[in-house]
Amino acid sequence: MVIALLGLAPGVAVRNSGCSVPSWRASHYVIPIGGFPAKAAEARASTAGNPPSAPADFPPIPWPADNPYSPARAELGRILFFDGRLSANDAVSCAFCHDPAHAFAGGGAFSVGVNGKREARRTPTLINRAWGRSQFWDGRAASLEEQIIGPITSPDEMGMTTEAVAKKVGVIKGYAPLFMAAFGDSAVTFDRIAKAIATFERTILSGNSAYDRYLAGDKSALTKQQKDGLDFFEKKGECAECHSGPNFSNEKFANLGVGMDRANPDPGREDATHKRSDTGRFKVPTLRDLASRAPYMHDGSVKTLAEVLDIYAKGGLPNPHLDTRLAPFYLDEETRRDVLAFLDSLNGQGWQNIKPPTTFPQ
Ligand code: HEC
Ligand code: HEC
Repeated sequence: MVIALLGLAPGVAVRNSGCSVPSWRASHYVIPIGGFPAKAAEARASTAGNPPSAPADFPPIPWPADNPYSPARAELGRILFFDGRLSANDAVSCAFCHDPAHAFAGGGAFSVGVNGKREARRTPTLINRAWGRSQFWDGRAASLEEQIIGPITSPDEMGMTTEAVAKKVGVIKGYAPLFMAAFGDSAVTFDRIAKAIATFERTILSGNSAYDRYLAGDKSALTKQQKDGLDFFEKKGECAECHSGPNFSNEKFANLGVGMDRANPDPGREDATHKRSDTGRFKVPTLRDLASRAPYMHDGSVKTLAEVLDIYAKGGLPNPHLDTRLAPFYLDEETRRDVLAFLDSLNGQGWQNIKPPTTFPQ
């Protein structure tokens, strides 16, 4: 937390700080916790109400006009995100599946919701979703605000209705001042719950990885092996065809054939568009913080990054809708180690500073 708030210049090595609280903010808890204020002065300003800065080499965080940032809104969103009472059995919060210890993705096991049923898809990471063009593996939600209705009303996740959740939060007296601070009056509506959580989600950031510091001019931030891996990633491997931009995703959809050999394969993007050409297409995921969120792919079927590379070396897994941009390549052991080392350089900072609330409104 201290690191992000004090601002971490590119190139500065990261220590695990003891998390002592600077005196100028000791009195109360303030977002932006996941943000990247560039300078101490900016950090101080941000506690006065400025939004967190985007990590270097990202565009500014796109705060929607109808849901502008405020520290009170982000803080309310953080508390709601971690509050199990938003679910039918009081136990399944957003964080229950989007585990802060795993870059807000699912942990080792598959997620289960209020009815104990296993999720069909892996819980994706929430880092840098602020820049997402659509949400879910199949892109069926257009915005973070819109996405929230999904888990809250799904019988397999939180098992509520929009009315029931607003009513349930509305009778918890301790929430009234938080809604007042965030929205100007204490009325609790589903729309406000969604807006607050979405605001918090836009502060779940990852940046300042070794790769970012390299990009910012510190040529020693990557090892020779990582530079060779980057070169393969961009050129021969053609990975950047899909994993492009600061978040290593073009936010489009592609079919690698993962899970397509099952009896009833997940239709993926076809679910959202009802187009046959979208069968088995899934959203290109970010490649940041991979180390924190194994296993991989929409169905969690691939345990290690080395096995992910095997799939690409084969040119994807055969199925009638396989992406035509994938072609087999020869992957020698040295290249494999280079690419794995490069992927490791994408592990960043920001999200680690976000902590669950120590108490919840009563
Ligand atoms: C029971 C587990 C579970 C709970 C609870 C849950 N999620 Fe999810 N979340 C998932 C899974 C699984 C997916 C992927 C589903 C899909 O793509 O169809 C997902 C997808 C998402 C995405 C899309 C990310 C992307 O890369 O497109 C966002 C954003 C998200 N969840 C936020 C939330 C929020 C906010 C809450 C609480 C209101 C929440 N989730 C509660 C399991 C869960
Ligand atoms: C045609 C677009 C495309 C290309 C090219 C591509 N990828 Fe992917 N990548 C995807 C999609 C789509 C997924 C998710 C597929 C799924 O879940 O079924 C993915 C998943 C991954 C994952 C797992 C991430 C996670 O969160 O589970 C890694 C790692 C990865 N790709 C690395 C690479 C590397 C390395 C290359 C180059 C050798 C590459 N990709 C080339 C589209 C692409």
